[in-house]
Amino acid sequence: MKFNVASAALLGVITSVGAISNVTRTGRYLYTDDGNRFYIKGIAYQTQGLVISGPDNPLNQPSTFVDNLADAAGCARDLPNLQKLGANAIRAYSVDSTLDHDSCMSALSGAGIYVIVDLTLPLNGSIDTTQPSWSTNLLDQYIKTIDVFSKYDNVLAFNVGNEVLTANATNAAPFLKAAARDVRAYLTSIKSSALVGYADIDGASAFRDAVSDYLSCDPSGANSDSTSIDIFGLNNYEWCGNAPTTTYDGLNTEFENYNVVAYFSEFGSETCNPGTRVWTEVATLFASPMTNIWSGGLAFSYFSAESQGAQFGMATLSSDNSTVTTDQDFTNLVAAYGNVTIVNSPSQASASASSFPACPSEGTSLEASTTLPPTPNESACDCLQSQLSCLFTPATSDYNVILGTLTGEVCGLLAQNNGNCDDISANGTTGVYGDVSGCDPTIKLSYAFSQYYELTNRAATSCDFDKNATLVAANTAAPSAAVSACLTSPTAVFTPSAPAGASAAAGTGSGSGSSSGSGSSGSTKSGGAVALAPSGNALVGMAAMAGCMVVGMLWTLV
Ligand SMILES: *[C@@H]1O[C@H](CO)[C@@H](O)[C@H](O)[C@H]1NC(C)=O
Ligand SMILES: *[C@@H]1O[C@H](CO)[C@@H](O)[C@H](O)[C@H]1NC(C)=O
Ligand SMILES: *[C@@H]1O[C@H](CO)[C@@H](O)[C@H](O)[C@H]1NC(C)=O
Ligand SMILES: *[C@@H]1O[C@H](CO)[C@@H](O)[C@H](O)[C@H]1NC(C)=O
Ligand SMILES: *[C@@H]1O[C@H](CO)[C@@H](O)[C@H](O)[C@H]1NC(C)=O
Ligand SMILES: *[C@@H]1O[C@H](CO)[C@@H](O)[C@H](O)[C@H]1NC(C)=O
Ligand SMILES: *[C@@H]1O[C@H](CO)[C@@H](O)[C@H](O)[C@H]1NC(C)=O
Ligand SMILES: *[C@@H]1O[C@H](CO)[C@@H](O)[C@H](O)[C@H]1NC(C)=O
Repeated sequence: MKFNVASAALLGVITSVGAISNVTRTGRYLYTDDGNRFYIKGIAYQTQGLVISGPDNPLNQPSTFVDNLADAAGCARDLPNLQKLGANAIRAYSVDSTLDHDSCMSALSGAGIYVIVDLTLPLNGSIDTTQPSWSTNLLDQYIKTIDVFSKYDNVLAFNVGNEVLTANATNAAPFLKAAARDVRAYLTSIKSSALVGYADIDGASAFRDAVSDYLSCDPSGANSDSTSIDIFGLNNYEWCGNAPTTTYDGLNTEFENYNVVAYFSEFGSETCNPGTRVWTEVATLFASPMTNIWSGGLAFSYFSAESQGAQFGMATLSSDNSTVTTDQDFTNLVAAYGNVTIVNSPSQASASASSFPACPSEGTSLEASTTLPPTPNESACDCLQSQLSCLFTPATSDYNVILGTLTGEVCGLLAQNNGNCDDISANGTTGVYGDVSGCDPTIKLSYAFSQYYELTNRAATSCDFDKNATLVAANTAAPSAAVSACLTSPTAVFTPSAPAGASAAAGTGSGSGSSSGSGSSGSTKSGGAVALAPSGNALVGMAAMAGCMVVGMLWTLV
């Protein structure tokens, strides 16, 4: 069916008579304003980016992305299908904060569809699994996206990561928790009540338990929600074909006492009925006992996507993208979703408040300290950079590959000269974070260059690195002195502010819906952003960069 932008806009206008309800977390459940339970009944909505397979990309993560929420014609084309599905939510895996999302977001809102927005981008736009840091560049990227999306009334949640932690690498967990803490504080400061989420790759129960418990615990032991996520997503492909209704029993037992909202951020195995899934898990997921434990899920995926040798997707576009056809897989999902009857219990009044327990202890399943990295301080990092004597000045704007190479090189040279890279290093397992570790990776490299220059008695030949470095002769302070002067409170946790050049979202919301903040009860958190004054200024300087749609690693029953 062909559907044009004008009719989508019209649809938005017509249905905006009844504005989309706010969705609120009370304890471990979601509720709309009328007090009814809210279950996520949706679909992943993101074109797959370019996947370059290889040993260094075991999860087949894409290196580019398409921002579908900036494609007004595409949204208008697909909206009738989303409505046919009875979807009330979609998930976008990467968005470009420099683009305009008004048309899609208002069309979706008008159709009663919420959006779960991942704040991450491919490659360097996400906390890295094995070399994690929580630094100004990522914080800025997240805040720019929040500023662009918080004006919409149908943003359900912002995810701080997708499949960052894996069974073999959980040392990035403190960085994710710090991201959740700072994003939560920022949302509160701009009076947005969107939820804070994470989407987890599936794995053995010890891994799932460790990750879910860690992300919703309180390391301070004060029963505070300040470092917790609101909503835990599990990318789950356990149910295959006409699986027995007992399939999720183990998972249900694991999550039966979880303290915040849990849902399936991806589901729909392709292993048993490739291309024409029967979607019988829907009936089980949306019925008791699962409705006591889970708040629905997102089928994977509307657009075609390939992962782990499986082909996902239900919609095929015409060569000019103007029309879309759906397949039997989609028709089956329409039937399964159409069959869902909402289990409207427990009532909001009887839902218990969340408590935020002590964090699980470190062990083989969780190599994560309860000491979190501090809030990245951009002005402190800028101050540092302005005082360094040897700066990283790459010849290419796509500097990430050489950045890694040069960091390894300079750290090796420092070690040979009785120096080290401790100040720029961060270790989530030990909870030791170097004073400079929260700065942009380019500043960290400049700092290490400057340390080497200093250690070699400021020999001009020490600031070269194959012409990747430039001497700033006027800066005579030692790097350590620059750290003392600029990073005056290197362990501080504070509410971040919008980076220079970001849309001004702060301070204009009405804020009546948000009741959590950093209080100790944390019983309720509103989701569905408050209306903020739209800000017009487009962002400059952030290259439309590579993007992401990470497909869940398949975890199927044999
Ligand atoms: C985890 O490590 C084991 C062996 O140490 C390896 O066989 C497995 O493939 C790894 N899993 C992932 C997801 O990297
Ligand atoms: C169709 O849309 C995809 C992204 O969804 C884009 O990559 C492609 O260039 C588009 N093709 C045309 C002909 O516009
Ligand atoms: C819909 O529900 C009916 C009655 O519970 C059941 O027999 C049927 O299999 C369901 N269909 C789908 C597609 O889930
Ligand atoms: C951030 O760093 C600046 C520059 O050193 C400093 O003035 C400011 O107090 C720091 N902010 C916090 C909250 O620590
Ligand atoms: C990622 O790297 C590109 C250069 O390739 C840079 O422009 C961009 O700012 C970086 N993003 C982050 C979040 O560091
Ligand atoms: C963190 O420190 C521990 C203990 O020194 C070490 O074994 C581990 O390799 C370090 N991790 C990283 C990512 O550097
Ligand atoms: C910069 O460093 C990279 C990596 O070591 C090297 O390949 C390149 O030649 C260096 N010089 C320039 C100008 O890029
Ligand atoms: C949602 O809550 C905000 C305040 O948090 C309020 O301004 C807005 O009107 C509410 N929306 C609806 C549809 O009730």
